[in-house]
Parts: sequence; structure tokens; C-alpha cells
Amino acid sequence: MSLIKRLGMELPIIQAPMAGVTTPEFVAASAEAGMLGSIGAGYLSKEETRTFIRDVQKRTKKPFAVNLFVPEQVEPSEEQLHQASQALQPIRNELGISSELLTLSKHEFDGQVQAILEEGVTICSFTFGLPEEKIIRRLKEAGIFLIGTATTVEEAILAEDAGMDAVVAQGSEAGGHRGSFLGDIKFISLVELLPAIVSAVDIPVIAAGGIATKELMNRMLDAGAGAVQIGTALLASDESGAHPLYKRAIVEAEEGCTALTTAFSGKFARGIRNRFMEEMQEAVIAPYPYQNDLTKEIRKVAASEGKPAFMSLWAGESVHLSREGSVRDLLNHFS
Ligand SMILES: Cc1cc2nc3c(=O)[nH]c(=O)nc-3n(C[C@H](O)[C@H](O)[C@H](O)COP(=O)(O)O)c2cc1C
Repeated sequence: MSLIKRLGMELPIIQAPMAGVTTPEFVAASAEAGMLGSIGAGYLSKEETRTFIRDVQKRTKKPFAVNLFVPEQVEPSEEQLHQASQALQPIRNELGISSELLTLSKHEFDGQVQAILEEGVTICSFTFGLPEEKIIRRLKEAGIFLIGTATTVEEAILAEDAGMDAVVAQGSEAGGHRGSFLGDIKFISLVELLPAIVSAVDIPVIAAGGIATKELMNRMLDAGAGAVQIGTALLASDESGAHPLYKRAIVEAEEGCTALTTAFSGKFARGIRNRFMEEMQEAVIAPYPYQNDLTKEIRKVAASEGKPAFMSLWAGESVHLSREGSVRDLLNHFS
């Protein structure tokens, strides 16, 4: 069975999971418009994941995916955390933030898996790694279709060997976090990565990164992709939960305005260059998720005070092609 049929889509397009941006309206509108909708559940608790799933199920009968961040163990030293926190102090001062306390967020991965199993979700995707064998087994026994994320051929082979039913080939053009999880981080463009992964694995490959036009989508499908995954092209949609200033930055973006940074979260991610990224270039950065927690208050205050200079404006290299409109309108550019 083709990937499109198996995932219940009318179009060979997956709405990229985008943690913090996907709303129930966004996911349901994507599914109703013929794509596979995806919940970006990465930052949610078990109960928030359950509520989100139910909110989408209320709005559509179509299948949709839930995307999870696979947890990893990191132990930064006290000194590294202290230095990373100190590097952020000038920005805290500018925004009038008094506390530098680090409240480490709790990651409820096992609970999220439980919610997925209990709520009848049929498709689950992962980024930042692959879950443990026993979790993969439980999900597969429940008949759930599993999608991994790879930024190199080696990661794609690991995803296939672990039992993933399909794999996203995430090119370096992609907006948001790199899904990398193996060895030194590599930045391989989609045109190079996609054919390499297609010839290395037998499972269907989903192309992601910088796909903003029908022409590029068709090129990827011709190069062997079973479907494409689009994020940035839908970021400024009416249904997207992106902050209004973030949406404005997206639609006003010029070619070449994005860069990769670890400064917001401790993991490499692509976004529109701003003051925060530039001022943090030489700073000590704590590993993910510590840096993400260290910068949380800054991002929150910046958003509430309307200061995009200190917000994470995740976007892919094709952001200059993004437009406003409903998800359905934006999809017209691909059909
Ligand atoms: C704002 C934003 C948030 C993202 N969050 C996630 C996420 O939670 N999980 C995930 O697997 N990928 C995430 N991604 C990456 C997308 O899945 C996908 O690889 C990327 O959007 C494709 O590139 P494009 O943005 O150029 O279309 C995110 C991307 C963006 C732009």
C-alpha cells in the first residue's frame, strides 16, 4: 500500500508537527484539507497531550499524527549552567526580568505514549532520537504507524532497523530544530540527503526542508519521496498558533534571512536571524533542555511585550515564500 493511502491523505503532503505552534484548529484544518495533520506534542504533559488529541478528534474524523520529542540524558556541570545563565543576564536586565532561577521542565514521554495508546491515535512520529525497544513494541502491537526523523543516512538506517514504518529525511533547509541524534551534527541539504536515504532504506521516505512550492514538492516526489512534510509554508496560516509578531516576521522575511543557532534551546535550530541570536553567538550555551529552560522567561516576556528581537522565530530557508491565509488557501499553491 502506498504511503499516501496508508496515512489516509488525499495529497502527498504532511503538515509538519510544530511544537508550540500547532493548534487543534490547525491540525484539523490540515487533515480536512487533504494533508496528514500532525500535533507537535513535544512540550506537552501527558494530560495536555490527551486533551489536545481529543480537541482534534472533535474537529475531524480524519487520521492525524502525534509527534513526540524522544528524551535524552544530559548532565551539564554547575559551572556550565552558571556561565550559560550569566550570558543571558544582560538580556534579562533589558527586559526587566529579575529572577535567573532555572526551573527544569518535566518531560512526560512515557505518559504521552500512554495517552496516544488510550486515545486511539493511529500515527505517531518522533524527533531527537528513537524510543526504547519496549515502547516501539507496545505502539506497534496497537497497530500504530511509526515515523522517525533522520538528518543523515546513518540515522535513517537506525530508524528502519528500530522498526519505524517510514522516516522523515530532514534537510538542512528545514525550519525549527534539527532532529539529529547520532554523532557529530551534520547539515546536509535535502537535495543531497533525500536520494541518499531513499537508496539506503526500504521504508517510505518523507522529504522535509524548504518545500514551499508545487515544483519543489514534485521534484522531491520524483526523487523517490513517498510524501513531503511542510512547516514554514503554513506557519503564518490563520489556524497557526504562532504569535502575531512571529507571523508578521514570516510574511515580511527576505531571502537569506535565516540561520542555525543553539542559543535558544541548546539544540541546533533554524530561525529568522534576530538580536538574540547575534548577541549570543560567542556565549556559553547549556545543552538541551537546560538552555531551553534558561531562556523560557526571556521568550515569554519578549512575546508579551512585543519584542521579536528576543523571540525564537523558527523558519526554514524558503520563508520568503510564505504567505498568509487559511490552511486551505495556502495548500492551493501545492495543488
Ligand atoms: C516552528 C517550527 C516548529 C517545529 N517543531 C517540530 C516538532 O515539534 N517536531 C518535529 O519533528 N519537527 C518540528 N519542526 C520541523 C518540521 O517537522 C520540519 O522538518 C520542517 O518544518 C520542514 O522544513 P520547512 O519548515 O522549511 O518546511 C518544526 C519546524 C518549525 C518551523
